[in-house]
Amino acid sequence: MGKDVIVACDFASADAVFDFLDKFEGRKPFVKIGMELFYAEGPSIVREIKKRGHKIFLDLKLHDIPNTVKKSMAVLSRLDVDMCNLHAGGTVRMMEAAIEGLTRPDGTRPILIAVTQLTSTDQQSMEEDMLIHEPIDKVVMHYASRAKSAGLDGVVCSPLEAGKVHEVCGCDFLTVTPGVRFADGDIGDQKRVMTPSEARKIGSDYIVVGRPITAASDPVAAYEKCVSEFCD
Ligand code: C5P
Repeated sequence: MGKDVIVACDFASADAVFDFLDKFEGRKPFVKIGMELFYAEGPSIVREIKKRGHKIFLDLKLHDIPNTVKKSMAVLSRLDVDMCNLHAGGTVRMMEAAIEGLTRPDGTRPILIAVTQLTSTDQQSMEEDMLIHEPIDKVVMHYASRAKSAGLDGVVCSPLEAGKVHEVCGCDFLTVTPGVRFADGDIGDQKRVMTPSEARKIGSDYIVVGRPITAASDPVAAYEKCVSEFCD
């Protein structure tokens, strides 16, 4: 498992994402479909991208009562996605129910990873809004360990947290890391970023890259650059 570049296809319509993917011709990048595209186009967008031969990370971040998450995960599993996610804050019971729902009759299932604390959440908002007073890095590691004990495969985290997550949860526990930028690139609204080669050195298993590829003048060249820095 692991070491791949996942392209965040944050487009608002099927036409826009197909125009983008057509540029890759024979190449079939691992694609992340987020809420915007999924809510705009529905499950058919997953089937169509899958039919074109791409692996899919469906980034819908489920968080609800265990029974609802279990049944929803069963639907996503039938869509044949390769990776999906949920909020670890939904509790171990919810995460265990998610795995039950995802597991197909033949015992296979998509990779399931957890969001610990969103990178948009900082210490102050965690304290004020959630009444959590522990240091945020300790909270992130705790949520990662709870995800591991529920049987999940890994977490979404900042590349800066990937090394620590592996120390706490073991090398086989996957770290999927957004916030990647080229050394000479624009960081946009991301705050704490790493280059693909730094993310590789620190031990990220998958990097999630959006605008450095989707907004590049030559997206295929930008993708190849990510792959050669991160995977080769
Ligand atoms: O364009 P950019 O490379 O910043 O895109 C990063 C992708 O990863 C986006 O789809 C964003 O929603 C997602 N993401 C993130 N930070 C997180 C979780 C997900 O940037 N903590």
